[in-house]
Amino acid sequence: MPNQRPPGPEGPFAEGTAAPLVPSRPTLAKLRTAAADCKACDLWERGTQTVFGEGPKDARVVFVGEQPGDREDLMGRPFVGPAGALFDNALEAAGLDRRDVYVTNVVKHFKWTATRGKRRLHEKPNQKEITACRPWLDAELAVIAPKLIVCLGATAAQALLGRSFRVTERRGEWIRSSPLAPRVMATVHPSSILRAPDDRARHAQTAQFIEDLKKVAAVLGEK
Ligand code: URA
Repeated sequence: MPNQRPPGPEGPFAEGTAAPLVPSRPTLAKLRTAAADCKACDLWERGTQTVFGEGPKDARVVFVGEQPGDREDLMGRPFVGPAGALFDNALEAAGLDRRDVYVTNVVKHFKWTATRGKRRLHEKPNQKEITACRPWLDAELAVIAPKLIVCLGATAAQALLGRSFRVTERRGEWIRSSPLAPRVMATVHPSSILRAPDDRARHAQTAQFIEDLKKVAAVLGEK
């Protein structure tokens, strides 16, 4: 039933989250198919499509961003725009291959407001949208059961590590107390590096980002 919210409070989204849509024996393929029809919050009306996570089901590390951007919304794939290009290069510089990792977002529809030229401008998702979408991320993590989770930016970090978590204070630190994975780390969002005031700052921030990713590569390289 594309693009129609079921009537009445007893509809599948009555709880205000995507939980009722999550298949009982989920696989990544089943989750992706189910998420394509998600209307648990209102963002489906604005976005072109659900942008589900992608990567191998046996990935040992899951990277979690905030939400798809303009390009991701059009392509239906996470991190394929300018931030994704920076992310891919940083992964490579750290000795990681994008094809081996799973990449997803806390919120799976693009939230945008105004346009600048042809590009729609991203707007931060609110708590209601994050909560509505959370069952998809939890299901992805349950299917993959990664050894490591890396939160890219504050939205992902606060969703997974608590609202009081500060990336500025704790970036690059392995958190071992999370029920989600044996180790969880938060680092900056690649978009924040793109917003650096000049080349010098951008290079320095990129180098620091690569250092964080090298910690991931080091743990994955451990026997
Ligand atoms: N920013 C994100 O957080 N996720 C994407 O997929 C793209 C940009």
